[in-house]
This record gives sequence, structure tokens and C-alpha cells, in this order.
Amino acid sequence: MNSKQSVMTLDEFTIQELRNFPGATGQLSGLLRGIGLAAKRVNVAVNKAGIADILGEAGRTNVQGESVKKLDEFANGQFIDALRTSIYCCGMASEENEDFIPFLDEHSMQSKYVVLIDPLDGSGNIDVNISIGTIFSVYRRITPEGTPCKLEDFLQPGSAQIAAGYIIYGSSTMLVYATRRSVQGFTLDPAIGEFCLSHPNLKCPEAGDIFSVNMGYYHLYEAPVRQVIDSFMAKTAQEKVYRHRAVGCMVAEIHRTLIQGGVFLYPAFGQYHHGRLRLCYECNPMSFLVEKAGGMSLSAPGQRLLDVQPAKLHQRIPIFIGSRTMMEGVHHLFSEAQ
Ligand code: AHG
Ligand code: MN
Ligand code: MN
Ligand code: MN
Repeated sequence: MNSKQSVMTLDEFTIQELRNFPGATGQLSGLLRGIGLAAKRVNVAVNKAGIADILGEAGRTNVQGESVKKLDEFANGQFIDALRTSIYCCGMASEENEDFIPFLDEHSMQSKYVVLIDPLDGSGNIDVNISIGTIFSVYRRITPEGTPCKLEDFLQPGSAQIAAGYIIYGSSTMLVYATRRSVQGFTLDPAIGEFCLSHPNLKCPEAGDIFSVNMGYYHLYEAPVRQVIDSFMAKTAQEKVYRHRAVGCMVAEIHRTLIQGGVFLYPAFGQYHHGRLRLCYECNPMSFLVEKAGGMSLSAPGQRLLDVQPAKLHQRIPIFIGSRTMMEGVHHLFSEAQ
């Protein structure tokens, strides 16, 4: 029999963390458990999407003006239910709901946390069996515990996050989350239905050779952005060659960046003159996580994305994020262009 100790599960890991911090209440562990449970349910649906009538459009558009997929709706419902039942947050906001959802039962209202979520990221990939994800973000509420949460609890700068993470439904399913202390990665073991610690203390490689951006919009980007992209494109055989990747799912782009290094850019352009990705549901959590892993994230030249004060829940923002040295290069080019 193999005497090798089995890998720690997400629950075991958070319990161990609690032991190291005697003042901790366990609310954050409870939240992560709820998120992990909803993720497992979504994972099952994703895996049988083709045979469970869950592919395709739901037949309506959301507050963002995007057409909603059936899986967007399903995932949203799962995360709402799991977070409500967990009683460890007093409310949540979702990309798929116009307003935030307060949890008004006596136990939830006592909680100190609010959660923001992109239940299904990269939903354009659903029907073509390419990676999709979920993104979440946790803040300590500003309003007093025991009262209904308010909009101001959700509109805090990303630097105030307590924890943030994502689930990637890819060739394997992983849950990666960051707290103020570290970034940890767990892989779903389908045999036991548990997330198991597979990537402890994740660090984003300092350098990388991948750049990721939608090149279809190249001519619509502003000149400094085109200059940054040009800097990654070798013009002679002697120049350093970067590889270009674009999956169409921010979670997948960030996951690859964390593991292999590189940068992911989603600049403003044309109709998306404020950017396309959402500050509160996508860019803040990913920036928190990447910074905690040693990387860097900007929303504009010299502007740390995490310092931006959100004005509204569904605000969009440009993002430039990734490995430190590559991002320093981006920053340098931006400053020259100004
Ligand atoms: P969502 O599915 O949550 O609406 O987000 C999709 C986002 C993001 O994940 C991805 O990077 C981007 O849309 C792709 O947009 P383009 O096709 O314009 O590049
Ligand atoms: Mn969407
Ligand atoms: Mn998204
Ligand atoms: Mn989404």
C-alpha cells in the first residue's frame, strides 16, 4: 500500500489555516466552502453540457447588454444559493444581476463579508468546449454587522479585498484563491469530489514570453497600446520572440499567466471606450490575486488598478496585468508615450 500522505483538501487546508490564526472566526473558510460546493455543481453541469440541454442562449440580455447563456444563468443560481445558504456573507453582487442581493436572514446579516462574483467567465467558449471560469471577490463590509448590507459595501477599491480567486473549468478543474498572505491552488479530484492542494504558495514567474490580447482590435487601440503590442512582436530574426495566446476567457489567460508567466491586456477601444472587462467582478479579483503572487496590474499608465475607487457595480475598465518584468516594460513604454 502507498504510505504517501494524501494531499490536503480545501476544507482541511482552511481548517489548518484557522489553527494558525486563533482570532479567526471561520467565516472566510465557510465562504470558501460554499463557493467550492457551487463550483463542483457547475463543474458537473459543464462536463455534461452537451447532453443536458445546457448549451446555447437563455434568450435574454443582461444588464451588461450581453446575450445570456443557459450556463451563465445556471452558474449564477448555484453561487447565489450556495452563498445564501452558507450564512457567511451578508450579501452578494453578480455580473448577471442589475442590483446587489442582500441576504436578510438573521444569521447572514451578522456576517462581516460581502461577495462579488462573475459566475461564468468566458461564456462565449461554452458551446465550443474551451476553458471557462468563475471569478469571486470578498470584502469586509463597511456598514455595521447585524444590519442589511448597502451599495457602499460593494463599491470598495480592490486594495481592500480580503480574498479573491477563480475556478477554471479546463482540462482539469481548479480553484485558486488569494488571501492577504498567499495564493493557493487546488485541483478537483473527481474520484473523491474534493478540491485538493496541488499548487501551494503559487508565485507568478517574474518574467515570461507570452502576450495575450485580442489582436482583432489592434487598429482600434490607442497609439501607446499599439506600441506596447509592437514591442512584443519580433521584427528581425535576432529579436526576442514572444508567443501570442488568446483564449477568450480571462480566467484561462490569468491562470496561464500565473503558471507560465506573461502578460494579458484588455485595453479600451471603439465602443468599449472605458474597457470591456468589469472592474468589480473580473479586474479587481484578478489584480489582487496576481499582485499577491508577485505580479503587477495597471488600468492606465502609472495607475495601479487596485487603487481605483469604483463608482458603480458594473463599471468597466482597461487592464494590463501579468509578470513583473514584462509589466515594468509595459509601464516604461506607457510613460515614454505620455
Ligand atoms: P463574460 O463571459 O463573463 O461576459 O466575460 C468574457 C470576457 C473575458 O473573459 C474575455 O477575456 C473577454 O470577454 C473576451 O472578449 P473578446 O472576445 O472581446 O476578446
Ligand atoms: Mn457576460
Ligand atoms: Mn467575465
Ligand atoms: Mn460572466
